[in-house]
Amino acid sequence: MTETVHSASLAVFPGSFDPITNGHVDIIRRGLSVFDSVTVAILVNQEKKPLFTVDERVGIIREVWADEPRVKVDTFSGLLVDYATRVGASVIVRGLRAISDFEYEFQMALMNRRLQPHVETVFMMPAEKYSYLSSRLVKEVFQLGGDINGLVPPVVLRHLHDKRDGAQ
Ligand code: PNS
Repeated sequence: MTETVHSASLAVFPGSFDPITNGHVDIIRRGLSVFDSVTVAILVNQEKKPLFTVDERVGIIREVWADEPRVKVDTFSGLLVDYATRVGASVIVRGLRAISDFEYEFQMALMNRRLQPHVETVFMMPAEKYSYLSSRLVKEVFQLGGDINGLVPPVVLRHLHDKRDGAQ
């Protein structure tokens, strides 16, 4: 009889998450079905002008996953593969919505492999109903008064309303 030794698998799910959408939530759920834990890693990027600060995004994602201890939320700057190595993650999870995502994702995955061959990129497809969804579109539609119910977690909708009301 062979003895199997299980070492916990940790996947990193990196991105901007400004804000997290139901497409991201779907990918995290799929990640949890394959890996023991998923760390949502928010890129600290001073160049972009985000709607939510990094601290707000951390808080929002923690709220969304409050009942799931296998989801952790963290921030990183610098190279993603260095961050993954530092936290002991052997996998980077990325969502692929459409063929249009492929070229950029392919380039990143191969560059990351060149930088750190021990970290594997795994692509997961969200449910078709989220295949057109992006944080950018969600923000635009919300800011122009469109209905985004069902496209983001209720926590995000609340924070979007708070942000808009606070801005007035
Ligand atoms: O949600 P996004 O904006 O598509 O996420 C992009 C992200 C954060 C995955 C990417 O920009 C990234 O990994 N940045 C960290 C810097 C880095 O490692 N660059 C080299 C990638 S090949």
